[in-house]
Amino acid sequence: LRTGRGKAHAKVILFGEHAVVHGEPAVALPLAELPVRVTAEAVPGPLTIASTPYTGVLHEVPELLDAPRAVVLATLDHVGLPHEGIRIMVEGDVPPARGLGSSAAVAGALVRALADLAGRDLTEAEYLDLVAVGERVAHGSPSGLDAAATAAAEPVWFEAGVARRLATRMSGVLVVADSGVKGRTRHAVASVRTFLERRPMRGAALMTGLGALAQGGALDLTGDRPEALGEKMTQAQGMLRELGVSSPELDRLVDAALAAGALGAKLTGGGQGGCIIALAADDAAADRIDLALREAGAIGTWRHRIGPEEDR
Ligand code: MEV
Repeated sequence: LRTGRGKAHAKVILFGEHAVVHGEPAVALPLAELPVRVTAEAVPGPLTIASTPYTGVLHEVPELLDAPRAVVLATLDHVGLPHEGIRIMVEGDVPPARGLGSSAAVAGALVRALADLAGRDLTEAEYLDLVAVGERVAHGSPSGLDAAATAAAEPVWFEAGVARRLATRMSGVLVVADSGVKGRTRHAVASVRTFLERRPMRGAALMTGLGALAQGGALDLTGDRPEALGEKMTQAQGMLRELGVSSPELDRLVDAALAAGALGAKLTGGGQGGCIIALAADDAAADRIDLALREAGAIGTWRHRIGPEEDR
């Protein structure tokens, strides 16, 4: 049995969501602890996909899977495989529509598994282009940040469409909390566009402000300044709220994290639902913040250790 395998993982955006769509820089962290794995087997019969939301023939997938379907077909064409005789299995722990990059992670794992099945080594540019096919279906005008961060092994500095590795020297614990409300990236991206049209001056100032926080935040990470990093996260949340991409549930979680001693907190990803991230100085602080977030309505939490390279 010929088999191809591919893997990618979730991500959190530390700074720059939305502003990155309008040319500002961003900082994202890979969440390798939340992987997506795809296996593609050559078996006689139609092209099928097995995943948590749907199992069956690829041509009949529900709208929910339009983006992965587009990625599969584009990748098959690119690597020269037929639209039949392949069984695709998707397994993963990345909750969908939570701002954690599940669409890019699934797309990335699909691209890698199908390229592996074809015995092809893709260049980074080929890989990113194929993931972008799905991201365009999912939310229209992707910056490419999610595609880069869900494939990266290290924190990422993303600017002008190019991802670079960011060597962090800081130690801290990031608590990721799920509001339980589906994120609406497409809608949120459109809300920001409307804000920029209606209030161009203020919109431009917020974009520049978010970009400056990404610049400064990257320096805090590489310079080991957790308090300064936390403050910038909370400032970014204020700007994202003004842009209309937060929500009452996200605001409540951010406030709860700060009241429980977080160094900073903000929504992450597309917003209008999905997750927040809170920065804790150490594990004991993370325990207190975690508890407060659950009491404030988080339906799930994860921990991600930010550490100097030698700790990883
Ligand atoms: C979504 O995770 C991040 C956004 O900035 C969209 C994008 O970068 O394509 C909201």
